[in-house]
Amino acid sequence: MPVLPSIRREKFLFEGADGRIYLARDGYVVKELLSRADPFAARRDYWAHRIAHELFPGNVLRFHAASDSATERSVLISKKIEVDEDHLHTLDAYKKGHGLNCAGCKKAFDPARTALREKTAQAMKNAGLIVDSYPTNFAIVEGKPFFFEVNEIDPDKVRAYVAGNLPESRERVEKMLARYEKLYEQMMKHFLK
Ligand SMILES: Nc1ncnc2c1ncn2[C@@H]1O[C@H](COP(=O)(O)OP(=O)(O)O)[C@@H](O)[C@H]1O
Ligand SMILES: [Mg+2]
Ligand SMILES: [Zn+2]
Repeated sequence: MPVLPSIRREKFLFEGADGRIYLARDGYVVKELLSRADPFAARRDYWAHRIAHELFPGNVLRFHAASDSATERSVLISKKIEVDEDHLHTLDAYKKGHGLNCAGCKKAFDPARTALREKTAQAMKNAGLIVDSYPTNFAIVEGKPFFFEVNEIDPDKVRAYVAGNLPESRERVEKMLARYEKLYEQMMKHFLK
């Protein structure tokens, strides 16, 4: 995988539960992981997102590079995505902690949007992809439901989905799964030793 660990952060965008997001040059976005506990986290996220992107290309953030570091922060690099206003409001609501009954929050949490979010998350779950469906991790991008975080994947479910729906991607996905599974195994060994 390409590694761009020293890409310069130019503008702070957001701090979430797991990371700090910065805009870098040429439309790149850097996500710095806040925790250094898991030395495989960035690369595992990278492959989880690449696999998810292969199965649901319009619905999930694709990363371009990742690196795990014991001394610096681990980073993931993506390209800046144009999100909808309702998503931006959820970020604001998260930051400022304002009540969920303001007009913007009502829109961001409205039943149709929530239903679309849940329906898409469920379709992805059926394909072995566990996305975080908290509203701050969900946006409408180019008219489609879009998730910023793939938390976990279930390799066997992914294999079954690909066999039935995307047989032409089987080999590519198999290679990516192998990378993901190796990092997962290394992480388990690291924490169980
Ligand atoms: N490539 C990107 N383009 C535009 N916005 C982004 C991008 N990556 C992250 N963000 C914004 O930053 C927020 C937090 O990113 P996320 O990966 O969910 O971090 P955390 O795990 O800390 O929540 C996202 O919900 C989104 O609004
Ligand atoms: Mg998030
Ligand atoms: Zn609000």
